[in-house]
Amino acid sequence: MDLAGKVALITGAASGMGAATAREFAAAGGHVVIVDLNAGLARNVAAEMGVQEPIIGDVSDSAFCRRAVEMTLKRHGRLDILVNCAGIIFRADAQGTSDENWRRVMAVNVDGVFFMSRAAIGQMKKQGSGVIVNFGSIWGGVGAAGVAAYCASKGAVLNLTRAMALDHARDGIRINAVCPGEVNTPMLASGRPSPPTPEDLKKLGETMVPMGRLADPVEIARVVLFLVSDAASYMTGSLVTVDAGYTAR
Ligand SMILES: NC(=O)c1ccc[n+]([C@@H]2O[C@H](COP(=O)([O-])OP(=O)(O)OC[C@H]3O[C@@H](n4cnc5c(N)ncnc54)[C@H](O)[C@@H]3O)[C@@H](O)[C@H]2O)c1
Repeated sequence: MDLAGKVALITGAASGMGAATAREFAAAGGHVVIVDLNAGLARNVAAEMGVQEPIIGDVSDSAFCRRAVEMTLKRHGRLDILVNCAGIIFRADAQGTSDENWRRVMAVNVDGVFFMSRAAIGQMKKQGSGVIVNFGSIWGGVGAAGVAAYCASKGAVLNLTRAMALDHARDGIRINAVCPGEVNTPMLASGRPSPPTPEDLKKLGETMVPMGRLADPVEIARVVLFLVSDAASYMTGSLVTVDAGYTAR
């Protein structure tokens, strides 16, 4: 997969699958722009990769999203790829989810994807080309107990992906979503009653996942790399599940 000369903005690139995607893109020759809310983590990843200063801010803020695209254009003159990976989870049923919890999950996971995509599409239309990959989840296509707001937000991301793909199919812009299953990142361990041990996480993979293990973030990042590459030139509006068989049953 060759991304030589391509400029890629990745949100949530300071951790987990976003960081793994940033590393895969850089290894394929792409120019990576790291966008994240966590300044400390983002700076560490940028320094380790030897890329420019990350752009720090909140994707639920539409003005910040516009600025992130403008700063990318200032640095590189174009924007070829947007990966909307930033996301949060809140683990509770509807009764346990406050107005604030609900709004924050929807703001980051749905508004963030919408605001970043809208800002990027403006530039991609001018260029006559571009690719967007949105991070959905298997919980966007099927339900799960105890994560009501998260499931709702990821369902919205998947249908937003389809709608935007149709709107821009003739603008040279491809828009797809990746739907990971259980991936071993900080998010997987977060928001639980007590922090899981490595043994707990191993057990989770063994009991919940048909292939018997959690995914390593790079196993999702490689699929994202495929989706943004020319190898996926006939793909738009696709929701690509990467879950080791989880939703096959
Ligand atoms: N881990 C899983 O099992 C799993 C499964 C399916 C889908 N996903 C989705 O994959 C994506 C990446 O998740 P991960 O597991 O790598 O999580 P992670 O927590 O390791 O990384 C998420 C990153 O997003 C950043 N972020 C959070 N809110 C932000 C905001 N408002 N603005 C900018 N950046 C923000 C965080 O600082 C962090 O660096 C998310 O959209 C998540 O919902 C995760």
